[in-house]
Amino acid sequence: MTQRTLIIGGATGIGFAVAQLLAKRGDHIILAGRHQDKLQYACQQLQAAGAKAENVVLDIADETQSEYLGRVLEPVDNIVVTAGSQAPGGAFTTLDLKAAQQAFDTKFWGSLAVARHLSGKIKPGGTLTLTSGFLSRRTVPGTLVKTTMNAALESAVKMLAKELSPLRVNAISPGLTDTEAYSAMTSEARQQMLARTAENLPARRYGRAEDLAKGYLFVIDNPFVTGSVVDIEGGALVN
Ligand SMILES: NC(=O)c1ccc[n+]([C@@H]2O[C@H](COP(=O)([O-])OP(=O)(O)OC[C@H]3O[C@@H](n4cnc5c(N)ncnc54)[C@H](OP(=O)(O)O)[C@@H]3O)[C@@H](O)[C@H]2O)c1
Repeated sequence: MTQRTLIIGGATGIGFAVAQLLAKRGDHIILAGRHQDKLQYACQQLQAAGAKAENVVLDIADETQSEYLGRVLEPVDNIVVTAGSQAPGGAFTTLDLKAAQQAFDTKFWGSLAVARHLSGKIKPGGTLTLTSGFLSRRTVPGTLVKTTMNAALESAVKMLAKELSPLRVNAISPGLTDTEAYSAMTSEARQQMLARTAENLPARRYGRAEDLAKGYLFVIDNPFVTGSVVDIEGGALVN
């Protein structure tokens, strides 16, 4: 049966790859993000491939927007959140704490606002899937914000799986994946980073958005999976 899936952050990167996979099997896709132009472009690509797709402008860092969407959205089967790939890095002593808070406001508090205000729109048997990141369990100097934000999100997923049960709540934890998240880098620096990553990982590969998308479908489809954090990181966490 056709499922309706809301993908917040779905205009680009991993979220868009999830949209493409779900659309291919006939799902009705609703893409959400902050920029109408990007959303429309992504929607048109899905529609050109024969999918039913629409979009809604939403900034999850602003709780009132999630609250409003929670009032007007038609019921959905699944919600996927991939929003919020940016976070300040660098030495803790010089870290921009305001920017760090803004990153938390989007990815951590934004995901929780979605869980609070939109989970009631998920039909029985449906899922909420959040996105963390492999740095949650790595101690790499200069990445305090990503590490703490993703670790907090992974803990939250387990709490939500219990408190919002029987709704199934999971997280996908990506390793380094080539997406628009790195579009501010020069092409040369980006290629070097990707090549170095592939060289050092047990999988001998950097992540592609499609690799990650398969993980979201796994947690959506498997009725025995909840409170799980699924690592798809090429072995980055193998010690
Ligand atoms: N790529 C990696 O190497 C990697 C590694 C570990 C974890 N992750 C995680 O994977 C997730 C997806 O990242 P990605 O690589 O696919 O990045 P991406 O291509 O930059 O996707 C992020 C999407 O989120 C949207 N977004 C940003 N802020 C938002 C907000 N406040 N409200 C609603 N939408 C917002 C963006 O669109 P607008 O700007 O138009 O709103 C964009 O479409 C992120 O949580 C990221 O931290 C990625």
